[in-house]
Amino acid sequence: MEEAGLSTWQDAAGNQCGRMEGREPDLPALLLGSHIDTVPDAGRYDGMLGVLLAIQVATRIEPGTLPFALEVVAFSDEEGTRFGTALLGSRALAGTWDDEWWNLTDKDGITLSEAFTDFGLDPARLPGAFRRPEQLVGYLEAHIEQGTILEDADRRLAAVTSIAGARRFSLVMTGKAGHAGGTRYDRRRDALVGASELVIEIERLSKKHGVIGTVGQMQAFPGGVNVIPGRAEFSLDLRAEFDEDRDSVLALIDEAAAEIGRRRGLHFERDEIYRADAVRCDLDLRAAVEAGIRSTGDDSPMAFWSRAGHDGVAVVAVTPFAMLFLRCLGGISHHPDEAVTVDDIAAALDAFEATVHAYAASYSA
Ligand code: HGY
Ligand code: MN
Ligand code: MN
Repeated sequence: MEEAGLSTWQDAAGNQCGRMEGREPDLPALLLGSHIDTVPDAGRYDGMLGVLLAIQVATRIEPGTLPFALEVVAFSDEEGTRFGTALLGSRALAGTWDDEWWNLTDKDGITLSEAFTDFGLDPARLPGAFRRPEQLVGYLEAHIEQGTILEDADRRLAAVTSIAGARRFSLVMTGKAGHAGGTRYDRRRDALVGASELVIEIERLSKKHGVIGTVGQMQAFPGGVNVIPGRAEFSLDLRAEFDEDRDSVLALIDEAAAEIGRRRGLHFERDEIYRADAVRCDLDLRAAVEAGIRSTGDDSPMAFWSRAGHDGVAVVAVTPFAMLFLRCLGGISHHPDEAVTVDDIAAALDAFEATVHAYAASYSA
């Protein structure tokens, strides 16, 4: 960011920030950025690419020429990998931080508060990261699509219309541990088999009702190869374009869990660990993104909803947002094989730069 001529700072939430002044000092800022954290064993482009594209756009813009300041942000902890709940950096910037989160613990029992302190931050100073609406004019994020809509349409870029609403849960099936040899099937209360039935039902219900349900984690306890699991802990990530569709399938999942519990003598618990309802992109910012895409020679820009979550879900609480999607090969993401092409990056960079100029042209303070 410093090489790009930005004044830089780390905010009280650990977000890495940079700023270039507009035509006058202290103008509200157009914010460009993405997140710099990843999921375990991730690819190299989810998040980071959007930060680097934002910095590169800043190097292309003459300081002191825009009707607003230009800021770049590299958000911390968008994925929620370590503490379960996501969008921590962007929720701090948006001022929607929940102090309950300080007590969240990672797999080693370290609290978020301890992790902040270990990193050199002071939880008590977190409100220093909160931005006010009058300080910002909007937020733009460039991101790989993490799907195959662009690739199937043989297009490089798209505008995003909205971001899916996602809810995440920790699920527990409780039965009775027992001897793998001596316990007859009609006497078993096998928590893992019950949980597995529910995992299959989650997929069936999600496909049938056009929502997206995923179980990414599962663990059987006590975990002996010759012990019938008395407890199964697993996760649910449930998302849809419309919150009401997501929530109606959640009710069906609850019904399925209860039926499995009755039939197998199991007890089911569900604890919500994260919720971010669907959000729509701002129409003026989206129009600037589509103008940016047209400037690359694509005269009918695609526009569709994002199945993946992004920091815009949090930032929208403090300022309007829009997104530029670029193709990623095979739609692969959250995997080391995540890949992009140089030509698509070049088109995205040109489109992103043109988006800023298009918004500046239409902007009136
Ligand atoms: O989960 C998501 O959709 C995003 O990658 N955080
Ligand atoms: Mn991700
Ligand atoms: Mn991402």
